[in-house]
Amino acid sequence: MGIRKAKRADIDQLEAIENKVFVYDRLSRRSLRDYIASPRVEMLVATQGRELAGYSLVAFRKDSVFARLYSLAIAPEWNGKGLGRALLEASEKAARRRGATAMRLEVRAENQPAIALYIKAGFECFDRIDDYYEDGATALRFEKSLRIRR
Ligand SMILES: CC(C)(COP(=O)(O)OP(=O)(O)OC[C@H]1O[C@@H](n2cnc3c(N)ncnc32)[C@H](O)[C@@H]1OP(=O)(O)O)[C@@H](O)C(=O)NCCC(=O)NCCS
Repeated sequence: MGIRKAKRADIDQLEAIENKVFVYDRLSRRSLRDYIASPRVEMLVATQGRELAGYSLVAFRKDSVFARLYSLAIAPEWNGKGLGRALLEASEKAARRRGATAMRLEVRAENQPAIALYIKAGFECFDRIDDYYEDGATALRFEKSLRIRR
């Protein structure tokens, strides 16, 4: 397994993953292309040979200490092999490198696998937003400090 920055040539595979993994709130091909090119976004992919197994997307805002984990997805055939955890760790590292001191994210309240991953990685729930998603589902908001503890 490898982790590297996403590039334009990845778009077909990224779109395929997006369609396999998400039913609602999918990123369009155009959004994927824009994110790959954006200086305010860090998009990483997990590779298995020439195949893409998943991706993560972290967004940064000028003058904000918060990095926002905007998306994380592993193709179903690669689930349960530690790739989600590895991409999350690499995303945190990238956020630290860019000077963020904390990471935030929203996740569907019923998404047990993702919530378990975030809690295991040290994220804490600090808020909930009803009717957050396209289909009216509730979001839980999680945060993790990226400061290195001594
Ligand atoms: C959530 C997701 C990214 C996890 O990726 P993954 O590569 O399958 O997960 P990993 O193998 O790295 O597992 C890491 C930890 O996550 C948790 N986890 C993963 N799958 C789980 C499941 N089906 N049930 C419960 N916990 C699960 C566990 O705590 C696991 O640690 P453990 O193996 O020590 O028990 C993946 O299931 C996914 O893409 N889901 C659909 C998209 C999504 O929900 N994205 C996140 C919201 S934006």
